[in-house]
Amino acid sequence: MSGPEAPDGRAEFLRDALAGLSGRPKTLPGKYLWDETGSDLFDRICAHPDYYPTKREIALLPRVASEVAALVGPGVSVVEFGSGASRKIRTLLDALEAPAAYLALDISGAYLEAAIARLAPDYPNVAMTPVCADYSKPVRLPPGAARPPILGFFPGTSIGNFTPEQAGGFLGRARETLGPSHFLVGADPTRDPARLRRAYGESGGLMAALHLNLIARMNRELGSDFDPDNFHHEARLADDPFRVEAHLVANRAASYRLGERTIRFADGESIRTDTSHKYAPDLFRALAAAQGWEPVRLWVDDDSGFSLHLFRAP
Ligand SMILES: C[S@@+](CC[C@H](N)C(=O)[O-])C[C@H]1O[C@@H](n2cnc3c(N)ncnc32)[C@H](O)[C@@H]1O
Repeated sequence: MSGPEAPDGRAEFLRDALAGLSGRPKTLPGKYLWDETGSDLFDRICAHPDYYPTKREIALLPRVASEVAALVGPGVSVVEFGSGASRKIRTLLDALEAPAAYLALDISGAYLEAAIARLAPDYPNVAMTPVCADYSKPVRLPPGAARPPILGFFPGTSIGNFTPEQAGGFLGRARETLGPSHFLVGADPTRDPARLRRAYGESGGLMAALHLNLIARMNRELGSDFDPDNFHHEARLADDPFRVEAHLVANRAASYRLGERTIRFADGESIRTDTSHKYAPDLFRALAAAQGWEPVRLWVDDDSGFSLHLFRAP
């Protein structure tokens, strides 16, 4: 086991939390949202009518999968980044001709193991490898687990959690990880404020629960004493570049202990817990091209503009 759930991961979590909560504005890296509870909450968010990205991508995916299958050919090893519940991969595996392997990479270790245990019996001819890793750092696949031809898969809106500079870094690292390959990546350009507020601010209170769980996780794993009842969740739209930010806002001034430090909050001060950049196709293609990914095909959902990009690295 590696990642924040491992004992060495806890020291990194404490370092990142201290650094983020000592800055102005206060931040916490979004990757810590993803413990087992966070992953479970996200699965419920995906099923909620307000959360449009999952529905729009699922509507687009069958057509995309059959065209990708024709382009990449038989015997592919698929490597998914941030695989979560490993639901969308079923559409891809069903469309591909005799896929050889599926490597599911996620930071949420226990949830990842359970998702692969559910998936594997339905695909007895596909070698399944769960890889607990943090894709904000360089990732090496287990030797021999993925053989060419290789198809990378990064669905959902996860690329949006990166700033343009960080997205470039991720796309460059993915090229190193995958080697010569195709890469199917989702990107969401939606700018409709009402739709974004519903998806990221409401979703039946599940978004608030996902972000507030980060405080519970910090208290449990790092021994801090933050009062979860003193925070509420807000989704805020921001520009340059256009994005949705998740904030946990303090209802009143308070001080809490974290490691050896005291973290002070003014009344109304917030912690930014995640960011979702909305990447238009042209901008995203340019970011990928700068990292050596050649555009092959682009599919766009009529309703939301949600895009699936297929790239190739020779
Ligand atoms: C928004 S969910 C998307 C899940 C799924 N791919 C989908 O499209 O429905 C993000 C997923 O990426 C994982 N994740 C987030 N940050 C990560 C990181 N730095 N390294 C590896 N996995 C990460 C989370 O655990 C979660 O399963």
